[in-house]
Amino acid sequence: MGVILEVQELTKYFGGLGAVRNVSFAVTEGEMLGIIGPNGAGKTTLFNLLTGFLKPTRGRISFKGESIVGLKPYDIVNRGIARTFQIVRPFHQLTALENVAISCLSKRAIDKAIRDQDVEEKAAALLESVGLSGKEGMFAKDLPHGDLKRLELARALAIEPELLLLDEPFAGLGLMETSSLSPLIQKLSQEGHSIIIIEHKLRELMKLVKRVITLHFGEKIADGTPDELSRNENVIQAYLGKGGMTLATG
Ligand SMILES: Nc1ncnc2c1ncn2[C@@H]1O[C@H](COP(=O)(O)OP(=O)(O)OP(=O)(O)O)[C@@H](O)[C@H]1O
Ligand SMILES: [Mg+2]
Repeated sequence: MGVILEVQELTKYFGGLGAVRNVSFAVTEGEMLGIIGPNGAGKTTLFNLLTGFLKPTRGRISFKGESIVGLKPYDIVNRGIARTFQIVRPFHQLTALENVAISCLSKRAIDKAIRDQDVEEKAAALLESVGLSGKEGMFAKDLPHGDLKRLELARALAIEPELLLLDEPFAGLGLMETSSLSPLIQKLSQEGHSIIIIEHKLRELMKLVKRVITLHFGEKIADGTPDELSRNENVIQAYLGKGGMTLATG
């Protein structure tokens, strides 16, 4: 398997604040990589850099062997990187179906669409794939939070991404919702998507991934299996604090 994403010495300063500092890592095709770190560690900033929402202060990002630094977010989407947001961003006054249909009208989605498949049909199929059948006609503003998380995912999948960036997919979900969303993410991985998943719910994350990167004050302080992580003194100190909770991997 080749490398799909390579990040080298990626750095982002906001004035004097080093939100991401000298972060390097690579993602292999088909891998699901976890990213953890305390609040403010730089996780979302990293996604914003990867997706062109922010320009790095320095460093390199290459996707499928080509630099994507300096490209606009829509150019990066067209190359096959999709994301979901930590804070869901649906069009509240549109229905679930319409929300997904808009993503189906993006350039990449149209290029990738099966010949003659109409947008509504494709949007409905995507909603079904994320478990939202029967809710096509509901307005986004009326959907519960758990459904909005699924809707986000359907919108990201509309562009048929090769690399999917998930920013806290389980945030705000109850136990039941979390354990029903998790197999869906697992399925996307099994279907061959490369995935990077930021998550604070460590127990759920560790079930999904074989490798986790830990960020702390913008720096990568660990990179390894969930098991290695749970024994890494730096991670335990930095992420959880003395006497904090244990890193549950079971
Ligand atoms: N646009 C911005 N302008 C200035 N500072 C920013 C900006 N975006 C993020 N920051 C700062 O950069 C640091 C990293 O923020 P970031 O949102 O990446 O953290 P995070 O790891 O995603 O945290 P959380 O777990 O709370 O989501 C924080 O100190 C934050 O306040
Ligand atoms: Mg964040």
